[in-house]
Formats: sequence, C-alpha cells, structure tokens
Amino acid sequence: MIVTVINQKGGVGKTTTAVNLAYIMAKDKNVGLLDMDPEGGTSFSFGIRRDKREFPIGGKSVNIFNVEVFPAHLGLLKLELGGEVEDVVKEIKALGKDYDVLVIDTPPNLGTLAVASMIAADKVISPVTPQPLAMEAVRNLDSRLQSLGKSASAFTNMSKKAVELELKSVKFVHVAIPPSKLFSESSRLGVPASRYEEVRFKKARIGKLYEELGKVVLE
Ligand SMILES: Nc1ncnc2c1ncn2[C@@H]1O[C@H](COP(=O)(O)OP(=O)(O)OP(=O)(O)O)[C@@H](O)[C@H]1O
Ligand SMILES: [Mg+2]
Repeated sequence: MIVTVINQKGGVGKTTTAVNLAYIMAKDKNVGLLDMDPEGGTSFSFGIRRDKREFPIGGKSVNIFNVEVFPAHLGLLKLELGGEVEDVVKEIKALGKDYDVLVIDTPPNLGTLAVASMIAADKVISPVTPQPLAMEAVRNLDSRLQSLGKSASAFTNMSKKAVELELKSVKFVHVAIPPSKLFSESSRLGVPASRYEEVRFKKARIGKLYEELGKVVLE
C-alpha cells in the first residue's frame, strides 16, 4: 500500500507525519519511506543527509529503526523540473510493491513530484494546521483530488482541537496532534519524535496518536 502525505502549504507537518507514521508502522510491518522532497527533511529526520548524486527512484536506501528510508538526492530536482508525471508514477508504484506500506513525503507545492506521488497513492493523508492559509491549501487539494477522481483523509496538526471542514474529496478524521516540544528536540538529534519519546519517557503519548492516525486512515 502506498501512503502519500501531502499539503501544498509549507510547514504544516508533512515530513513529521511521514516520518512518525513510518516509524510506528515499522514495528509490525515491512515499511519503506520515500523522500520525494528535494529539501530532504525526511532524510534529515532519520539522520541522513541529502545525497549529492543522482539515483533513480528507489535507487538508494538505508535501513534505520526497521524503516527502509529512501533519502532525497539530486535526481529529484531534475524530475521536478523536467520529469513526466506518468513515468514517476510508474516508478513509485514499482517500488511500492516491495513493501506492506510505502510512505511518501512530498514538497510544499503541487508540482511533478507531489502530483505523481498523489496519483500513485492508495491513501492520501493531509496534515492541516488551524490557520487560514493551511485551510486554503486543503481546499485546493480538494479540487485537485476531485479532478483526479481520488480522495484523502485530513487530520489536525499542532492543535489540541480538531479542525472540522466539510469538503468533497477530503474527509477530516478526528485525530489532533497537539503542539509539543518533542518535535523540535528530536529533529535536532535526527530521530523521529516517537522514537525520541520512547527512549526518553515511559509514556508514548505522541506515538499513540500516530498509531491511532495510522489505524483511522489506513483501515
Ligand atoms: N505537533 C507539532 N508540535 C510542534 N512542532 C511541530 C509539530 N508538528 C511539526 N512540528 C514542527 O514544525 C516544523 C514543520 O514541520 P514539518 O517539517 O513536518 O512540515 P512540512 O509540512 O514537512 O514542511 P515543508 O513544507 O517545509 O516540507 C518542524 O520544525 C517540526 O518539527
Ligand atoms: Mg517537509
């Protein structure tokens, strides 16, 4: 199953979602995590630097905490600027066959990489923060999904109160990830927040929320 995390607004928590979902699901599934953002935030969250070389999609991976991470590399920029959406979709789908779940992080736009990742997806997840621009972005995503004949689940990030919005192709699930310092502390160390929480504290509060998100969205 291919799970794409998408929202064209920057900084709403796409990377955080992809990284933590992959980490949590890898406890009992064969999980791949594909960084499709040339900025390489997902790679960085697993302590890996962007690769200055070019690879085909799925051409380089590192296994960390049982997650097969496919880091960002220079080839992504070329694909973003000159790649054919259909070719990228094919490559992603071929990679997806090797995993129970392939989680994909996307850049903050609806360019070639994000759109191809969305088309290839069996499930689309969108983190939304309770700010006007993030709401606007999810409305845009809704129209885009409608034109592609696809649907997505949205959840609330950085707020205790769940955002509720009636849209056609985006369904809001009742999961809200609150603001927490764990995210900045863990990202400085290059580990997923739910891993950091497990090692540092007895209670896995944030981890439980991602577990719930995984269940709600992937059922
Ligand atoms: N629930 C949260 N509480 C506090 N900080 C958070 C939370 N979720 C994400 N963050 C922090 O917010 C920042 C932006 O998150 P993230 O990088 O996941 O967003 P993004 O949508 O991937 O951004 P971009 O569009 O730039 O790729 C990061 O510093 C991250 O650690
Ligand atoms: Mg990101």
